[in-house]
Amino acid sequence: MTRELPNDFLIGGATADFQYEGGFNEGGRGVSTHDYETNGSPEHPRHHTMRLPDGTIISPKSSFLDAENVPKDAEPVFLKDQYYPSHKAVDFYHHYKEDIKLMAEMGFNVYRFSIAWSRIFQNGEEDQPNAEGIKFYDNVISELEKYGMQPLITICHDELPINLALKYDGFNSRKVVDLYVKYARTLFEHFGDRCKYWLTFNEINAVRGFGPTGVHESTGLNRYQAAHNMFVASAKVVKLGHKMMPESQFGAMFALSTCYPRTCRPKDMLATQQELRENWYFVDTMGRGYYPRFADEILQHHGVSGLDQIIMDKGDSKTLKDGQLDFIAFSYYRSNTFKDGDEWFNVGGSDNPYLEKTPWGWGVDPLGLRYTMNMIYDRIQKPIFIVENGMGAIDRPNKDGYVEDDYRIDYLKKHLAAMADAINIDKVPCLGYTMWGPIDLVSLSTGEMKKRYGLVYVDMDDLGNGSLKRIPKKSFNWMKELIASQGKILDE
Ligand code: BG6
Repeated sequence: MTRELPNDFLIGGATADFQYEGGFNEGGRGVSTHDYETNGSPEHPRHHTMRLPDGTIISPKSSFLDAENVPKDAEPVFLKDQYYPSHKAVDFYHHYKEDIKLMAEMGFNVYRFSIAWSRIFQNGEEDQPNAEGIKFYDNVISELEKYGMQPLITICHDELPINLALKYDGFNSRKVVDLYVKYARTLFEHFGDRCKYWLTFNEINAVRGFGPTGVHESTGLNRYQAAHNMFVASAKVVKLGHKMMPESQFGAMFALSTCYPRTCRPKDMLATQQELRENWYFVDTMGRGYYPRFADEILQHHGVSGLDQIIMDKGDSKTLKDGQLDFIAFSYYRSNTFKDGDEWFNVGGSDNPYLEKTPWGWGVDPLGLRYTMNMIYDRIQKPIFIVENGMGAIDRPNKDGYVEDDYRIDYLKKHLAAMADAINIDKVPCLGYTMWGPIDLVSLSTGEMKKRYGLVYVDMDDLGNGSLKRIPKKSFNWMKELIASQGKILDE
């Protein structure tokens, strides 16, 4: 069986605004939740910088890594001696023409990017959108069209205008649901005729405190209340989008790096099945339009007695049903293992002794991608879209800045081969594949620059020093060949 990819297959790259775009105080952009996150490392997690009314500075850890309670009276502050990677990121804001040209040179036909909510509505509550912000994304889409690439837009990638987190406690409030719908409507009005594929939220199953949801106190109840409100927000936007743009297709993105039982001991098998439900809770609700029967059990693991504790509006069940996703988008980086007695998690887990690891300890498991694609499709029976995959590695450029990244080629080749097998042999309908960070960008979890995913090297270090020069790596040429051969080189 050949690994040739389908004719209409979408292949390209994916980025998130606060890790890539920069221009944080340009073009009328407002401040967003991630802007207060410092850089970090696996040993020293990144954190927010906040001040209490008495002047004490507190440093809650990044919510993505480990949610900590943030007192209601804490105000985010920028400290002079701190580096905040989102402010400049790798400056796509000023390099978008060059970067899109590089993507086009590789043959990409799709580019997934997120829109910074605070670039469109500074504090999330203005009556009128920021014209300069609209213009920026308009220019980006025009540039894509120039090369025959289509946009895949993430409406909300783990962040929101800081005002909405502080004033309303983020998605804990239905007010923020309404503001999100208004924001999405604005995007549809301006870009709806030029964009077919949309993602309502990024990695919605990684629902942790202050970052993705904007909630202060990261109790189970707050997080799962916010998740419910996000389900409703997503469903409303899907419904609206279908009405305004009949051709449009909506997904949400789930972090579905998979998990195997640690042993074949029946207790470990059962525990793993239950652990996986941590993710299915999100995929099922949004993909099928109703909560799964084990919802109460999941909530109990988070200190909530059941769904009846979650405040719901009368029309919510119908909204969820009417606003089901058209496709299931997911990120896949690695696999983990689980055994009876392990702590429940929704991203992460324990190692798999059969796998090699990346320098950041992520188990490399291409077959796990094929396994995951099958699992999702068997369960939801809607097309899937792999919208993130890749290898964070330390690159060592030669004196001209050229990187021979055979390790990255090897990772991508094996994962794409497994994906092609899922499509061609297992007959899983897959709309496309966008690898993570085609041009080097800042890591989400550690805020480092040296954790690089790109096919193009960006000359910049962990503290933002460097020329920002873009230099194609060896993997750039490999990707070009892969796309030109429509996947045939995966057979070699
Ligand atoms: C996904 C996120 O979780 O993983 C991205 O959607 C993120 O924003 C990616 O960058 C890789 O994680 P990291 O921590 O290596 O940047």
